[in-house]
Amino acid sequence: MLAALAGLSACGGGGTDLVETRSSAANWSWSLPSYFPEPKVPADNPMSAEKVELGRFLFYDRRLSGNGQQACAGCHRQDLAFTDGLAQAIGSTGEVHPRGAQHLVNVVYNATLTWANPSLVTLERQMETPLFGERPIEMGVNDANKEVVLQRLRDDTSASSYPQRFSAAFPAEAQPISWGNVIKAISAFQRTLISGNSRYDQWLAGRTTLSDAELRGMKLFFGEKAECFHCHGSFNFNDQIVHAGSRIVETPFSNTGLYNIGGTGAFPEPNRGVFELTARAQDMGKFRAPSLRNVEVTAPYMHDGTITTLEDVLRFYAAGGRNIPAGPNAGDGRANPYKSDLVSLIDLSDQEQADIVSFLKTLTDHDFLTNPRHADPFAAN
Ligand code: HEC
Ligand code: HEC
Repeated sequence: MLAALAGLSACGGGGTDLVETRSSAANWSWSLPSYFPEPKVPADNPMSAEKVELGRFLFYDRRLSGNGQQACAGCHRQDLAFTDGLAQAIGSTGEVHPRGAQHLVNVVYNATLTWANPSLVTLERQMETPLFGERPIEMGVNDANKEVVLQRLRDDTSASSYPQRFSAAFPAEAQPISWGNVIKAISAFQRTLISGNSRYDQWLAGRTTLSDAELRGMKLFFGEKAECFHCHGSFNFNDQIVHAGSRIVETPFSNTGLYNIGGTGAFPEPNRGVFELTARAQDMGKFRAPSLRNVEVTAPYMHDGTITTLEDVLRFYAAGGRNIPAGPNAGDGRANPYKSDLVSLIDLSDQEQADIVSFLKTLTDHDFLTNPRHADPFAAN
């Protein structure tokens, strides 16, 4: 794997940041590194510059929540790779979500969405949860205020001027301001959140060097001793990828040994992973491996934010899981019967753990975190 990825450096271009451009729609093109496949876009929601820009306004607009208090961006902040820095997210009415807000780095390539839901496969469908979900309430849009929220957009004559923006994005429609189109526009915006210009990518392109510690960490990461690459080894540093040319899409979920309540293998409710949907014992504690791109800024870690630092994540993997000696979740996760075989005691010295952390920090893409095209359009005005 290391050799395969390192070999890609030969394809790197010259001085430009993103080395290849491909188009999938008449008036849209992607700027991607050569080793990123073309993103998959649903046939009924083609990309356009107007739609993406409308989606950006909506993503950052608090008026889109029932009580006008929270935007998508309230839980998905650009400077934090579109997560929020909290262990568990807090919704527009103050309700605490059982899980942490996910980063949205390269979300277009995720074969399934959210921490542990094999059946959620499009951004359009996923968005119904933050918009309309009631357990917990996130944006708090419901039958009583659905029309009120749309009317706010219809009445808008300020900088965002939604009536014109919706007409430009959906030119064939007489009444384009609808929930269906809100969802399409935000999805199109999210598909543009592509990160491929970290120091690691620049190194692959032959445009920068990495330190000895970073190179040692990379070798460990992609090697059989630390085994990280089995679940985080794709170009996106995860193991669930879908793209325009996908034929077979694999959607693994893994139990990494975070819990083992009372020695039964159980994880705390309602965070039992895929088990919450299937109630099958073998799905206990199984979650989707997150992309590790920009992981330096996405703390705290894991679905419930219970690991604070990258150093602690490495200690956790080196131990082959987490032992919780006391309290309601007491139990030795290292011995969880449903844990993946790929997570086990690793003989990793402190130096080796530190090297892997150094490597992970090369995945930070400062352009992505500050790109004006992903930024809050209201702040700019
Ligand atoms: C209250 C905070 C909050 C708000 C507001 C919010 N989200 Fe999220 N988001 C989360 C949490 C928490 C998750 C993980 C959900 C889970 O696993 O159950 C998530 C997951 C996601 C994912 C899945 C990412 C992945 O890698 O699979 C997407 C996409 C997303 N949110 C988009 C949005 C959009 C679009 C909006 C606005 C319409 C929004 N979110 C509003 C907290 C929030
Ligand atoms: C068996 C598959 C598997 C292996 C092997 C694996 N991981 Fe993970 N990783 C996961 C899963 C699944 C999660 C999410 C777990 C959760 O949230 O409960 C995760 C989460 C993480 C996170 C937290 C990311 C975030 O945004 O919260 C980091 C960092 C990480 N892994 C790094 C590593 C490193 C470094 C290694 C090698 C030492 C490694 N992983 C090995 C599957 C794996």
